[in-house]
Amino acid sequence: MTSTLQEGILVGCGNPLLDISAVVPMDFLQRYSMNEDDAILAEDRHMPIYGELVEGYNAEFLAGGSVQNSLRIAQWILRQPRVAVFFGCVGEDRYAQILKEKAQSAGLDVHYQVKRDVPTGTCAVLITGTHRSLCANLAAANNFTIDHLEEPSNKALVENAQYYYISGFFLTVNPPSIMRVAATAHAKQRPFLMNLSAPFISQFYMAPLLAVLPYVDIIFGNEAEAQAFAEAQSWPSGDLREIGKRLVAFNKLNPARPRIAILTQGCDPVLLFQQDSVQEFPVTKLAVHEIVDTNGAGDAFVGGFLSQFVQGKSLDVCIRCGNYAAGHIIKNPGCTYSGEPEFVE
Ligand code: AP5
Ligand code: NA
Repeated sequence: MTSTLQEGILVGCGNPLLDISAVVPMDFLQRYSMNEDDAILAEDRHMPIYGELVEGYNAEFLAGGSVQNSLRIAQWILRQPRVAVFFGCVGEDRYAQILKEKAQSAGLDVHYQVKRDVPTGTCAVLITGTHRSLCANLAAANNFTIDHLEEPSNKALVENAQYYYISGFFLTVNPPSIMRVAATAHAKQRPFLMNLSAPFISQFYMAPLLAVLPYVDIIFGNEAEAQAFAEAQSWPSGDLREIGKRLVAFNKLNPARPRIAILTQGCDPVLLFQQDSVQEFPVTKLAVHEIVDTNGAGDAFVGGFLSQFVQGKSLDVCIRCGNYAAGHIIKNPGCTYSGEPEFVE
């Protein structure tokens, strides 16, 4: 970081979740009818998972929640505290304290809405080999309401920001808050960034996703998420390049700022789609022995990207930093980092 950035230049909203992560045998997934790479919301039948992980599988507790992960990573790279502000809802419990401590020690400025009688949300991270299956129990996170953004100090934070980032995951919680932030970004002509987050968002939350998409200046996703969107839209081709082009061309409110789509594909190149072009950015493939777990790779990619984007860097630098950050957290448990960032432009 060279120059000093405005505090709170970046605002994000999402689900603050504590990840409960453990290596489990395949039959654990089978018992809960889960697949190796799922990202789902917990139903009643999944509720015993969390206790089981803690009691029988030596589970680790890690700060999670997709947007909060990305913002923590951005803060780590920026080395200047309080550049990013995070909103989300937690309970009044030990898990909320852990999340807050982790976020603040990364330099993130958190403004949680607190729901007293509901526990803080958790996400089971079920690791089988190099795969991970996510099952989120949103709990308190599901109680986020727009009045939190309407509190004068929070309203000021939203209005003073220059960049906005919200996950698709948050569409299951509070679309009115997303629309409010999107409208603010639009009115002030500031970039609004969003993530497709998981296939189930396109499968089951297409209506609120379509409502906000016209406001989205940059959309992120991985292969499976892009394909789920295409399928839900009955687009003819499952080819990622076709999907990316269509995402860019999709209904946009402010045509003066054409949409950008950025699709990651694991260790294959990141694809950058702009109005008339598709560019590839190679990923430095990690050796198997270097990989701890890929959990959080997608979030870290966005975090690295944001750390440069808020400094006004070119998309090329932003994407290279995204790949750097993802590569780093893959070498660490969950979405955590170690040591000082070493990204060089
Ligand atoms: P997330 O961060 O999305 O992690 P993930 O989905 O587990 O990450 P993936 O490994 O699946 O990454 P990806 O597929 O998105 O990206 P890609 O593989 O293309 O989610 C984890 C978090 O989500 C948890 O903390 C949890 O709390 C949260 N969460 C779950 N449900 C939630 C909910 N309902 N609400 C809120 N939060 C929720 O890779 C991306 C980049 O990584 C690549 O471009 C590349 O740079 C790098 N990369 C990937 N693989 C390799 C490799 N083999 N070698 C080198 N680099 C690689
Ligand atoms: Na990791």
